[in-house]
Amino acid sequence: MKAFVVGATGVLGRETVAELRARGHQVVALVRTPGAERAFAEYGIPAVRGDIFDAAVLERGARGVDAVFHLATRIPRKPIPKPRDFEETNRIRTEGTRLLAAAAKKAGAKTLLFQSIAFIYGDHAGAEVTEETLPLEHPLVRAALDGEQTTLDSGLRGVVLRGGYFFQRGAFHTEWMAEALRRHRLPLIGTGDAYINPVHPHDLARAFVRAAEQETPRGVYHVAAEPVEARVLYSEWARRLDAKPPRRIPYWLARLVIGEFAKMAAFRYRVSSQKIRREMGFRFEFPTYKEILDSLTAQ
Ligand SMILES: NC(=O)c1ccc[n+]([C@@H]2O[C@H](COP(=O)([O-])OP(=O)(O)OC[C@H]3O[C@@H](n4cnc5c(N)ncnc54)[C@H](OP(=O)(O)O)[C@@H]3O)[C@@H](O)[C@H]2O)c1
Repeated sequence: MKAFVVGATGVLGRETVAELRARGHQVVALVRTPGAERAFAEYGIPAVRGDIFDAAVLERGARGVDAVFHLATRIPRKPIPKPRDFEETNRIRTEGTRLLAAAAKKAGAKTLLFQSIAFIYGDHAGAEVTEETLPLEHPLVRAALDGEQTTLDSGLRGVVLRGGYFFQRGAFHTEWMAEALRRHRLPLIGTGDAYINPVHPHDLARAFVRAAEQETPRGVYHVAAEPVEARVLYSEWARRLDAKPPRRIPYWLARLVIGEFAKMAAFRYRVSSQKIRREMGFRFEFPTYKEILDSLTAQ
């Protein structure tokens, strides 16, 4: 298979390029800087330079390719972002996906794969949510759902993978949380009974490559390890870091400090990844938070 990867330099993109190559596929990367172009060239990976808003560049990258991977995002790298900090990511997911879908179609690609997010649901009192569960109607999830729909309506084989929350060494938010835990500055909201639906980006990358290889899957799939209550995950992580257990703050205080995100973070739902296991025979290398924490805290 030949793949065009948009977002190839990102946390998920780097894992996906490595997985594609490990499984013998050809890769063309979209890069934005000469440095990234050189870095890929050193590994024998051709690149096209430009960004997702440049239709001509996208067409060039997608020419002669079987599968196009949309893994680009621009999630704010700050602990407490404001909704307006998501404008660029929203544009990448809406306008960017439309441009990429059109380019992929024009270039004759067969498959379009889109990175979406699994944290799009409202409170379900700890119940399981599947790909059939109605998402929340909220500005913070609207762009992801728009990108999903563009992918599904593209006229190509459209595959949407809704990834859980990324935990990986070196990834901005993971390192920030580890540091906050060490300094006893990552509080649990309320009793900490909200579920975290984590995923190791290596597993999400593996899922993307399997979905491209298998040729029949289409539609929406969750990709998340076993859900875990925030108090369990963060207490165990703190213990492994030799830090004090996280303190608790009342919900009203979290609302005051992180606004709308506190509401989203307090929702209790468990993301089910049964569909990808069943339909693609997918097996997680990091099936629970324990393996994920092992990877974060191993010496
Ligand atoms: N599900 C999740 O939990 C989740 C999802 C996404 C991201 N994150 C996390 O959020 C942190 C920061 O995220 P990030 O969004 O910067 O992700 P990232 O994984 O660091 O990079 C995103 C990728 O998208 C590319 N990109 C950005 N804007 C683009 C554009 N206009 N055109 C083409 N490509 C573009 C980037 O290219 P450049 O290298 O040129 O910038 C990069 O390759 C990371 O630590 C990541 O782990 C978490």
